[in-house]
Formats: sequence, C-alpha cells, structure tokens
Amino acid sequence: KRELIVAIDGPSGAGKSTLSKSLAKELGYHNIDTGAMYRSVAFAAKRQGIDPADESALGRLAETVRIEFIRQGEGERVLLDGVDVSSAIRTPDISLLTSRISAYAGVRHAMVELQRKLGAQGGVVLEGRDIGTVVFPQADVKFFLSASTTERGRRRYEELRAKGLAVELEQTVAEVEARDAADCARECAPLVQAEDALVIDSTAMSIDEVFRTMLQEVRRCQ
Ligand code: C5P
Repeated sequence: KRELIVAIDGPSGAGKSTLSKSLAKELGYHNIDTGAMYRSVAFAAKRQGIDPADESALGRLAETVRIEFIRQGEGERVLLDGVDVSSAIRTPDISLLTSRISAYAGVRHAMVELQRKLGAQGGVVLEGRDIGTVVFPQADVKFFLSASTTERGRRRYEELRAKGLAVELEQTVAEVEARDAADCARECAPLVQAEDALVIDSTAMSIDEVFRTMLQEVRRCQ
C-alpha cells in the first residue's frame, strides 16, 4: 500500500474537519488542519495588536510564528509558539479575522510552505481551501466537500453551541455566507474546485455515508 497525500477542500461547515480526522484515523495517517494554521496567525495578530489592514506586518508575522500539531489522547491540539490555542482560535471573531488575513499573499506563502513540509512524506490528509489546487496539485486523492449554505450554517451553529458559545442561528448562517463569499472572491488562491476532485454534496447525506464514500475512493487509489 502506498502512503498517499489526500486533499480535502470545501467551504466552511461542509464537514471537512470531522471527515478528515476520521479518515486519517482509519488510514493511520496524519491529519493536517490548515484552517487552524491560518486561524493561529489571526490569533497571534490580534494578540499583538497588529492592524488587520497591515499586509506586510501580517506577512512577517506568518513567517515567524511557530505552529505545531501535537497528538493528545484521541484529539489533536494546535500549539502557537508553544501555547495550546486549539479552543481560542475557534471563536466567531477569529473566524472572520482569519478570512481577512488569509487573503494576503505573504501570509499564504508562509503557510503553504509549512503545509508542503508537513505533507511531503505522504501518509497525510490535509483539509483546507486550496490543498488540491495550490498546496498539493499532485495529491493522490482530491475531494471537494460541499453542502447547502443553510445546512452548513446550521452545522456550524450546532458546533459552536456545543462548545457553549452563545451564538444565534441566523447570525451564524450569515457569517458562514460572508466568509464563503470572501474565500471565493479573493485574488490569491480562492476557493475553487480542482478539476480532478471528487465532488461530494453532503447536504442530504449522513457523516457515515460521506465517510464510506471517501474511504472507498482512497482505497481505490492506494
Ligand atoms: O477551515 P476553517 O474554517 O478553520 O478556516 C478558517 C479560514 O481560514 C477560512 O475561512 C479561510 O479564509 C482560511 N483558509 C484558507 N486556506 C486554507 C484553509 C483555511 O484560506 N487552506
């Protein structure tokens, strides 16, 4: 069996995180959450009081922060300069700030380089927006996961609620829409489907169904 590079792209709330984690676990692969990397840069920027409009300062920040993934029991944690930021990077305001700063070429350049290093050996599932198009255009298996905006907003709402955040459904749907629009409209590495990606619309599918479809595709390519 070959150690593959598996790319999972798609808009927020499509189920990328859940599926990439469970696929990686099933295959014995590393799971690389690239959104968490952009979120960590946004979090560091906020903490240091950097102006979100200051593109060059943000580019420099992205070059210098240290982002690591460590395994802890069943889960995986994100460390920013040695500090666990796994929960802190998931708030709605960090989500919006992330979408903004991830449009900058300098920020993307630093993250893409790190992602290529982490994935180069294969045996990885990477999830994000531009994995199959920019980071690893030669990935062995590419998925593009989507679902209707309402369904994705609803999922994100449940997720945030489960974490104890006092969010409203309507506002969560609106934020998901705004973030998608920004991710698709940006000039640098916008969210687009790779031509050779297997597109899965999960609106009316259970997580388990999506999981089995994806696993089958990976096994076929191994
Ligand atoms: O996947 P997640 O929702 O955690 O990503 C947060 C934000 O990070 C996205 O809205 C997008 O702006 C950015 N992102 C990106 N490229 C990636 C992963 C995430 O631009 N590969």
